[in-house]
Amino acid sequence: MTDDANKMWGGRFAAGPDAIMEAINASIGYDQRLAPQDIRGSRAHAAMLAAQGILTDKDAEVIREGLLTILSEIESGDFAFSTALEDIHMNVEARLKEIIGEPAGRLHTGRSRNDQVATDFRLWVRDQCDAAISGIEALQKALLGQAEAGADWVMPGFTHLQTAQPVTWGHHMLAYVEMLGRDASRFADARARMNECPLGAAALAGTSFPIDRDATAEALGFDRPMANSLDAVADRDFALEFLTASSLCAMHLSRLAEELVIWSSAQFRFVTMSDRFSTGSSIMPQKKNPDAAELVRAKIGRILGATVGLFTVMKGLPLAYSKDMQEDKEQVFDAADNLMLSLAAMEGMVADMSGNPEALRAAASSGFSTATDLADWLVREAGLPFRDAHHVTGSLVALAEAEGKDLPDLTLDQMKSAHDALTEGVFDVLGVDNSVKSRTSYGGTAPQRVREQIARWKERLA
Ligand code: ARG
Repeated sequence: MTDDANKMWGGRFAAGPDAIMEAINASIGYDQRLAPQDIRGSRAHAAMLAAQGILTDKDAEVIREGLLTILSEIESGDFAFSTALEDIHMNVEARLKEIIGEPAGRLHTGRSRNDQVATDFRLWVRDQCDAAISGIEALQKALLGQAEAGADWVMPGFTHLQTAQPVTWGHHMLAYVEMLGRDASRFADARARMNECPLGAAALAGTSFPIDRDATAEALGFDRPMANSLDAVADRDFALEFLTASSLCAMHLSRLAEELVIWSSAQFRFVTMSDRFSTGSSIMPQKKNPDAAELVRAKIGRILGATVGLFTVMKGLPLAYSKDMQEDKEQVFDAADNLMLSLAAMEGMVADMSGNPEALRAAASSGFSTATDLADWLVREAGLPFRDAHHVTGSLVALAEAEGKDLPDLTLDQMKSAHDALTEGVFDVLGVDNSVKSRTSYGGTAPQRVREQIARWKERLA
């Protein structure tokens, strides 16, 4: 072994790596984020080795102390990470050797970097599932606050971004609460599935040392050890599930962001975004731009990109570990960082924004938004088949449009010209308030239903 050969495996090497080899091989630039998980995993492993009589208690104790020293060095920024030492696992072990000497070399008994990295990364992603769930819940609470404020504010409901039927502001807010509820449950499902421990799978085949995998699994908060050592080191499903759940959530955030961009425009004026989440223009003094919403709208791009990226890395990889899998981390880190940032930004925007009930109502009252109510009235009161009622109503919409009026502005005579069963009573359903009030079917937009759903969600999130 020459001096520049690697200390961890230099036994069979005569020369050190080429500089380019070192550059392509090293992951320490980013996997140093796994330091707390790596040290936690090593402590659990060392304690288990001692309990099994594979390490002496004395060695286990100095290893434990040394690892704690390293953790505080890293936390205080005093740790010198080395690219030559490739990754977080070897950086920590090499430093341990400097601090405690010979016993450091005993820590890696019955373990490999393959099960080590799988364990570290699972612990990290598991934490991110928890962070995503709490970020989602905070945003849901902000949306509920908006829903409560405007449970009966009438606004246009859209299909094709064309005025469809009046809905309530509270109902619209609650639609996102539902989507986010599914997102949270996806992170919870993924978390439950990933909560098995790879540690002890060693390189790929398990180990001949009498290790206790139940003990390390338990110490690290996993439900059980993974049952197949090949799978344990080769699996990155947990990261992919996190990314797919993140992509779905980011897609939902993007839709809400798009609505805020539209709604805050001078043409809509449905909401006023707070100054805290807006920017100005350096040239146009009147501008207040919804930059935070636009950025949240865009984040799905990189999060879905990371998802496709990791799927592409994993496809076609033979069992068990291949170095390709080192490419799993940066994208997951980036996706997680950007998801958490998006959730926080959206929570801030939603909590701070103010809906404009007058503009919402004015928009809801135009565009023949109660045409369906008129058709429904003809079915209910005059016994027309819905298709015929639809046709009669259509002719009235055409008449109103030709006269530059809205439906409630037509005279009774004009109504009767379309169908003589129409009476004064029809005007009751043409108002937007009556329209939303009448939509009392389960899941409908009536303020009464909205308040029930708010109560249900408040209880769920309490
Ligand atoms: N840095 C590596 C990774 O992130 C750790 C595992 C290395 N294992 C190996 N057999 N070279 O995947």
